[in-house]
Amino acid sequence: MMFPPLVDSFGRIHTSLRVSVTDACNIRCRYCMPEFVKGFLPQDQLLSFESIERVVRVLAKSGIKKVRLTGGEPLMRQNLAQLVKRLASIEGLEQIAMTTNGMLLPPMVHQLAEYGLTHVNVSLDTLREESFRKMSRRNGIEQVIAGIESALPTKMVVRLNALVLRDINLDDCIPLVEFALERCLFIRFIEFMPLDADRQWSRDQVVTGDELRAILETRFGPLVPLERADPAQPATDFGFAGRTERSGGVGFIDPVSKPFCESCNRLRLTAEGKFRNCLFGREEWDIRQAVESGVSDDAIYTIVANCVGAKYASHGISTSQFLQPPRAMYQIGG
Ligand code: 5AD
Ligand code: SF4
Repeated sequence: MMFPPLVDSFGRIHTSLRVSVTDACNIRCRYCMPEFVKGFLPQDQLLSFESIERVVRVLAKSGIKKVRLTGGEPLMRQNLAQLVKRLASIEGLEQIAMTTNGMLLPPMVHQLAEYGLTHVNVSLDTLREESFRKMSRRNGIEQVIAGIESALPTKMVVRLNALVLRDINLDDCIPLVEFALERCLFIRFIEFMPLDADRQWSRDQVVTGDELRAILETRFGPLVPLERADPAQPATDFGFAGRTERSGGVGFIDPVSKPFCESCNRLRLTAEGKFRNCLFGREEWDIRQAVESGVSDDAIYTIVANCVGAKYASHGISTSQFLQPPRAMYQIGG
């Protein structure tokens, strides 16, 4: 049986689902987590793999084509590869992606690829231990780099994600792009959004995509815009004159300076089993209780359709009414 597509009241069709599998993380990036966490969700409050699979199976019948596993740090969830295997068996899914800090990848990377993970985005904000420590309040940049290197020989598509905070890692942007190009990878810079647990976000810490682009052009020459592969993708990608597209490039995700809400096709499921229609949303739709009490596929679909139906036109970060949501990034799923 098929379900109708998940269309909101502005006509946006939802085809992408981000599934947070844990709020736990092994580092403490300042744009996301507090330095001292009061406690992560206990195992018995996490949506089980069985339930995640069930929900995704229903949504795949209504046009969800892409699932991205997020966290916290998704590899902190026990046996994550087993979830990948379950998801890979679902008809209609075209991509199973994961966003990770990479540190725990090496021992698991081949199994993840074998079980059907298709895309890995590794967060890499710096190449220097000193700024890694400032950014993440932990040591271990070599572990992140080893994680990236471990994924390169697999058949998965590997991309890098960087977040620049003006006072901490602005000087790292050129070396980061050099690192990416040496490995023929794409690196995408994402603007800092007001989703940090410490509520220290301020506009002067945000380095916009346009500003970064101008800095990169001083080193690499003019950036050449690439065609948008997917009209709903938030990133604007560029190559470099004289390099082919396959040899890597740079992209900008500018949710603050250039909101892309009108093409948003994304839905989110939190680690404890609540649907959200926006990172900045204030409402959640619980699916866990329904799934665990054995409701029908129709009932699952209806809950998700209600969530999509209630979606606002945009996040409104730049409006005077904007309120930072009560949950931080690691509690929603990046
Ligand atoms: N603003 C923008 N992106 C964020 N991320 C985490 N917190 C924020 C924030 N406040 C993104 C980063 C990181 C990924 C896991 O989530 O890109 O790489
Ligand atoms: Fe962990 Fe990701 Fe949050 Fe950094 S951004 S603390 S890696 S969950």
